[in-house]
Amino acid sequence: MSVNFDPVAKPYRTLERLTLGRALERTREHYLPRLTHARKVLAVGDGDGRFLAKLLRQNSQLEADAVDTSAKMLAQLRFRCRSDENRLHLFRQDALTFQPKTQYDLIATHFFLDCLTQPQVEQLTATLVPSLNEGGLWLVSDFRIPPAGPMRWPARLLVRGLYLAFRILTGLRVTQLPAHERALASAGLTRVAQRLFLGGLLTTELWQRSCQRCPSS
Ligand SMILES: C[S@@+](CC[C@H](N)C(=O)[O-])C[C@H]1O[C@@H](n2cnc3c(N)ncnc32)[C@H](O)[C@@H]1O
Repeated sequence: MSVNFDPVAKPYRTLERLTLGRALERTREHYLPRLTHARKVLAVGDGDGRFLAKLLRQNSQLEADAVDTSAKMLAQLRFRCRSDENRLHLFRQDALTFQPKTQYDLIATHFFLDCLTQPQVEQLTATLVPSLNEGGLWLVSDFRIPPAGPMRWPARLLVRGLYLAFRILTGLRVTQLPAHERALASAGLTRVAQRLFLGGLLTTELWQRSCQRCPSS
């Protein structure tokens, strides 16, 4: 059975807040102030669209493509972005089959790469990175198991519990976090910023495509 996030689309925000309060929101939104330059964004697996709605609102020049397999998530996203609908293009399809037809300044994947296996993340990054303009950014937020410290074991337990919950609710078969940093680096990007939350359980990162003519960031 393929993954289906429709059943959790409506209660998604409530479930998220019940699990980790506003921590995921703070993680997603941390780098928003650094994204004002973007003119074309690809949001992959943006779910109910809370991030994209804020990004569109803060930047009236921005056009967005949003890819998601879930019709109900895309409906939530469209509703949240309704005041900027003319700058939004929705693609209901598997991100692994999405072939970019344009160049982007920004690709955003919040709590999405953890729905994929390592080979799938590598496939996705190899397909999408060439569609990033020089100097373009890939913003990724995700769960993380801290390599050491007091949050290491709680993080392992929480991540295991979340995978079990998503397996039951959505049919997700992935059981461990992929090493997205390995995939992004081998696709040619360099991490230029990182912020950890909740003792290292959550990470948000900016990865950049190199650029000869850009001022250093
Ligand atoms: C865990 S939710 C994350 C939602 C949101 N980005 C967030 O920060 O909470 C994963 C989202 O990715 C979508 N998704 C999962 N696998 C997908 C795939 N292979 N291609 C496209 N979308 C996918 C789901 O429908 C869902 O909207």
